[in-house]
Amino acid sequence: MTSSGKKVCFITGACGVVGNEIALSIAGQGYTIFFTWHSSAEKAEQTLEKIRWISPESQMIHCDVSKSGDISNAFSVFQQQFDRLDLLITSASNFFSTPLPEVTEQEWDSLVNTNLKGTFFTMQEAARIMQKQPFVSRIISMTDISADLVWRNFAPYTVSKAGIQHLTRVFAKNFAPTILVNSIAPGTVTVNPEKDMETQQEMIKKIPLRRLGDPLDIIRTIIFLIESDYITGQIFNVDGGRLLQ
Ligand SMILES: NC(=O)c1ccc[n+]([C@@H]2O[C@H](COP(=O)([O-])OP(=O)(O)OC[C@H]3O[C@@H](n4cnc5c(N)ncnc54)[C@H](OP(=O)(O)O)[C@@H]3O)[C@@H](O)[C@H]2O)c1
Repeated sequence: MTSSGKKVCFITGACGVVGNEIALSIAGQGYTIFFTWHSSAEKAEQTLEKIRWISPESQMIHCDVSKSGDISNAFSVFQQQFDRLDLLITSASNFFSTPLPEVTEQEWDSLVNTNLKGTFFTMQEAARIMQKQPFVSRIISMTDISADLVWRNFAPYTVSKAGIQHLTRVFAKNFAPTILVNSIAPGTVTVNPEKDMETQQEMIKKIPLRRLGDPLDIIRTIIFLIESDYITGQIFNVDGGRLLQ
């Protein structure tokens, strides 16, 4: 059991493109990191090695967030190793296109169970620990501006992200004033490598601030939220103004 007094962050999906940068940056903010990985074993090892240069007590665990048993196991191991939880970031996510007439039950389950159900049970486990602590802690869910857009080929994904935004508000109200719960909804940060330059330029034309997002845009918002004491139940669209159009 670690009781160095250092703040501790539990983050899912730390091997993702943005999730990885978040985990490293939060370690840089002085947190010990406990992160989950799912299929990226090698990246997880490399990530832990990097994080431990900054935050030596950090740990990782394999966890399929679409299975509530895996989530409870991850939190049980977490509690054997750490005596506090200051910050939860739910970044694990599944994303692929699902043209509406052909959506299968398997595709629906894969997207909704990973994104919505996984986030719910992760937040529930974290909140059970946090609500007993004598200090304010924070939950930040990662969603997507597509929760507010109508993308015809991504219904299970966008519904799952809209669902997380609603959960964010419900958890915020339920666990105030002990736990501050907010969501960050990025616009496009990572572009599918199959998209050509012309398509990327078309995407940029729809963004008033005339560039795609960068992981640093997300990290700055997280740092703002972990320093704030009077914000809860909010969705932060970090999208260069994309939703204005
Ligand atoms: N990047 C963007 O442009 C963008 C835009 C809008 C919203 N977002 C949101 O921002 C967050 C971070 O994005 P990102 O770029 O880091 O995403 P990403 O690169 O797609 O990574 C997602 C991570 O989720 C994990 N994951 C997938 N299925 C899982 C499962 N069943 N159980 C546990 N973990 C699972 C994966 O872990 P393994 O690699 O170990 O399998 C992966 O590392 C996500 O919630 C995403 O939806 C991102």
